[in-house]
Amino acid sequence: MNLSEEEQQEVLKVMKSQMLTLLHGEFVRKFEEEFARYIGVKHAIAVNTGTAALHMSIAALNIGPGDEVIVPPFTFIASASSILHNNAIPIFADIDDKSYTLDPNSVTNKITEKTKAIIPVHLAGISADMSELMDIASDNGIHVIEDAAQSIGTRCYNKKVGSIGHLGCFSFYPSKNITTGEGGMVTTNDDELAEQCRLLRHHGEPEWYVYNRLGYNYRMTEIQAAIGRVQLRKIESFISIRNKNAKYLSEATSNLKGITPPFVPDYCEPAFNYWIGRLDPDVLGITKTQFLDRVPRSKVLYPKPLYKTKLFQKKNAYSKGCPWSCPFYDKEINYNDVYLPIVEKATQEIFALDIHPKISKESLDENIKIMKKISENKQ
Ligand SMILES: Cc1ncc(COP(=O)(O)O)c(C=O)c1O
Repeated sequence: MNLSEEEQQEVLKVMKSQMLTLLHGEFVRKFEEEFARYIGVKHAIAVNTGTAALHMSIAALNIGPGDEVIVPPFTFIASASSILHNNAIPIFADIDDKSYTLDPNSVTNKITEKTKAIIPVHLAGISADMSELMDIASDNGIHVIEDAAQSIGTRCYNKKVGSIGHLGCFSFYPSKNITTGEGGMVTTNDDELAEQCRLLRHHGEPEWYVYNRLGYNYRMTEIQAAIGRVQLRKIESFISIRNKNAKYLSEATSNLKGITPPFVPDYCEPAFNYWIGRLDPDVLGITKTQFLDRVPRSKVLYPKPLYKTKLFQKKNAYSKGCPWSCPFYDKEINYNDVYLPIVEKATQEIFALDIHPKISKESLDENIKIMKKISENKQ
């Protein structure tokens, strides 16, 4: 976490105002305006988590029983569980072998008459190829929800992620590029979708005791927004330190045998959240688990493709078998049969290292030293 005196002062202002909810205060509204300006969109809707942002975005598109949504399996669970929370079917497509983000060719192969949306995940600050994905979506009349939780500030074809798809979703969890403790944001240029998101965030209730649709309580608090506004003012310096740390690790490891630094596609200007490395177990003579044990502050990112987890293998989302056994869905999905070669290999080889603004040069040097030893097969 990177909180200072300034955040504390703003939180105190909220407390002194006695207005702790967006229904009475000004902080959430201002944070939304400032975040929308930062991303370059017309609307931003603040919520209490990134998971809520995803759940709400899918609901805003009226995606539900019988509908399929394409998502990568190399991501945090919320990218896919938010589809299940809308009673729709996650369909997994493979990732690109270099950027580790959704592969447009694999997406094309997964589209059916039931596909309603694609959720590309911008991974640790590297964006998916939004140009290709938007073309596929428009050719097939489907929507794109960007999961930009890990990539606040990343640009793709000169536009900030979260401003390219029909909706963008962000998380302000402490590990993200800026934080509000817990928190999230939906971004969009579409007036109607923004209105639906505002309704969904607050019980489907446009005015007291009027309920226009099934909604939730996903409101961000004023204290969260007070922290977020200060964090947003510092975001460029946070990102520049993270990018500098990532560059430092990449340069130091670029010649190491058996370790590959992150690949930045031509179309992407990254705002690195983590440094994503790849190890070659054959060259190094160790497994990813052994590697993670030896390298301090390393993260598993991710241990298996999501379709191999119990939730999907057993299809145990809801007690009656929904959404897979829903009468609106006449197909049989068996995740045991899913095999996506790029992600299967990636989960054995890809790891992440911390590069947050407070990390010391000594910590990065320690990581580099240990990776060098591993690469040279020294104990
Ligand atoms: C890719 C991705 N999507 C969604 C989320 C969910 O965000 P939150 O933890 O704020 O609910 C995360 C958070 O870790 C994430 O990494």
